[in-house]
Amino acid sequence: MKIGIMGFGVVGSGIGEIIANSPDGLEKRSGEVIEIAKILDLRDFPDSQFKCFTKEFNDILEDEEIGIVAEVMGGTEPAYTFTKKLLMAGKSVVSSNKELVAKHGTELLQIAKENNVSYLFEASVGGGIPIIRPLYSSLSANELTDVYGILNGTTNYILTQMIKEGESFEAALKGAQEKGYAEKDPTADVEGHDTCRKTAILASLAFGTYVNSEEIQTEGITKITLEDVAYAEEIGGVIKLLGMASKEDDGVYARVCPAILKKENPLAGIDGVFNGIMVKGEGIGDVMFYGRGAGSLPTASAVVSDIIDAVKHQGSHIGLGWKEGVPGYLKDAGEQEFAFYIRMSGQPDVKVEGMRVITLPELADEFAVITPKLNGKAAADLLDDLKQNHEILGTIRLVAE
Ligand code: HSE
Repeated sequence: MKIGIMGFGVVGSGIGEIIANSPDGLEKRSGEVIEIAKILDLRDFPDSQFKCFTKEFNDILEDEEIGIVAEVMGGTEPAYTFTKKLLMAGKSVVSSNKELVAKHGTELLQIAKENNVSYLFEASVGGGIPIIRPLYSSLSANELTDVYGILNGTTNYILTQMIKEGESFEAALKGAQEKGYAEKDPTADVEGHDTCRKTAILASLAFGTYVNSEEIQTEGITKITLEDVAYAEEIGGVIKLLGMASKEDDGVYARVCPAILKKENPLAGIDGVFNGIMVKGEGIGDVMFYGRGAGSLPTASAVVSDIIDAVKHQGSHIGLGWKEGVPGYLKDAGEQEFAFYIRMSGQPDVKVEGMRVITLPELADEFAVITPKLNGKAAADLLDDLKQNHEILGTIRLVAE
């Protein structure tokens, strides 16, 4: 089977490495020798072991021998137009592109179905962790109720460096970029957009109806400080960026935000570039997925397993998918209740029933409180109240279980 690769960056070069290093061209695992026929990239790679680079998309589209294409370019355009044309031309497409899947996945899956080919995206969430396939296949006997976790390696690396090494946010981000974890533009990682897209993909698959990532309330980690880390430590917790989705009778709640997790929570121990995803189902209870969520070879290994799957299912569509979304299906995230950590200036004079006050000896002119569980409106009212006498220095939700 001849394949094409679109994009020869961190993931594309990893795919090349895995296939080139397989002594039998993955024949034992897929039933056919897999051969890279064309690689599309606008850059030149004179020192690469591969000599099949092209700058023309049509060279891949019009090559009738190419049956599967790995789209690892990222971004929505031109990836969207290219993917659509390839599927319509009867080629399967495998992708690591969460932005494209989150935005146009419903349509691309439909086009794949109509053309008896597959659109697969195991690498779009959790890097090398197999999570997409279990959601549509292994766990399909279950009515799934919750899916949540640490879905971004860059931010988890940054937070871990802040917690364990006392590094500043900026120094830790630089380290993540040097290691090739961060997106080209780190805004997508640190502002939570990458986690948001992955949350939308997981929620769409787990609950069977499309969730639009653009409607998910999203907050990143840029406001998290070493002081927040110290208060969290004082109450036996750690700060993690979570993507969360839960199913209700009449729709789903979804949210991306930094959260304080008690150290007993299995997700609290997931450090560095690792991701962890918790799935709850009615029959199965809790299932946790853990592994490398970013980086060249882990992500490429997920893409290559999709290529193998597509080889095995030539001429048929792998039935991965979800229904179109309906207005109101994504419920108002403000209805959900959380306990909040609120850090503020001044002396600890606040008295609200059930509120715990925390002071740290090294931070004399400020303090923090942990509130009882509040919905979004009650939390906003409390903050307005506190602002009368204090400057609010930070707020983070607590996730109890
Ligand atoms: N920038 C992403 C991350 C890459 O850090 O998790 C994998 O999607």
